[in-house]
Amino acid sequence: MDRPIPVVLDCDPGHDDAIAILLAVQSPRIDLRAVTTTFGNCAVEDATRNALRVLELAGAPQVPVAVGAAGPLTGAAELGNYVHGRSGLDGPDLPEPVTRPVTQSAVDLMGEVLTAAEEPVTLVATGPITNVARLLQGAPGVRDRIREVIFMGGSTERGNHTPTAEFNAYSDPEALEVVLEAGVRPRMVGLNLTHQALATADVVDRLRAMDHRLGRVAAGWMGFFGSSYRQVWQFDSPPVHDPCTLAALIDPHLVRWQEAFVAVETAGRWTRGTTVVDLFGRLGRPANAEVAMTLDVRGYWELVLGSIDALGRQERPGEASA
Ligand code: BDR
Ligand code: CA
Repeated sequence: MDRPIPVVLDCDPGHDDAIAILLAVQSPRIDLRAVTTTFGNCAVEDATRNALRVLELAGAPQVPVAVGAAGPLTGAAELGNYVHGRSGLDGPDLPEPVTRPVTQSAVDLMGEVLTAAEEPVTLVATGPITNVARLLQGAPGVRDRIREVIFMGGSTERGNHTPTAEFNAYSDPEALEVVLEAGVRPRMVGLNLTHQALATADVVDRLRAMDHRLGRVAAGWMGFFGSSYRQVWQFDSPPVHDPCTLAALIDPHLVRWQEAFVAVETAGRWTRGTTVVDLFGRLGRPANAEVAMTLDVRGYWELVLGSIDALGRQERPGEASA
């Protein structure tokens, strides 16, 4: 088997970020070197607490977690608590974490991981991409240590936080612009793809039917997330965005990509944070990104549900009946 891919996961958990963490921990294809946190779905303190709780739940308390950006490169943060609840991960009760974040900042920890790794590292970003932008701004030389930046954000179509802008891209468009222009092989997993990854009633039933705590917790997360999506966007089932990034790394056959020129609007009167994806080359500019286009939906859920089940079955003392 190929060597596992060294990964830093930069996230704002967040129900779908939490599932992404579970995939990263469980997959033998991924070597999760660190988790870094950012504002986004909630304040960065809550995102950090949630990341620690999810790693403990997943039996991976040894993964270092570092605290990142409290707000975007410019302007004020707009948080996504209206989707993810007061804690950022509302739903099932989880114990307070016993582990603590490391003392380094997210940017410093990313830099250390990149420098220490024996090969270039994949950065996976599932929240506002501020930490990655700060890393690139502060130490442009690290780009040679980055294999690719695969991020959930933007869309080839319309938005969710505003009519045209996706939440992560909207949250820090200047940061996304830095990443798109840095020459770090940006790979965009936008709403056009993630809206194919719906946690239907069948998916939630399969989680609930798992004979372990992790399955029940994940079903509870989908329940909360699903009710937000019903209320805010009238979706029948919630799109489970963030794990699509990890799924594409774990099994490259699950996602079809297209190269395109991608830019992000930083100045629009109504369109700030909107990604402009030139799928038909109308702007005559060279492609600067890979854009995720279609998802093997069945394969995706087999991977996600199989990973949660495998992780949940590794029963840990005291958790069997919790
Ligand atoms: C993105 O915003 C957040 O709600 C999710 O965690 C995901 O990263 C989807 O627009
Ligand atoms: Ca997220």
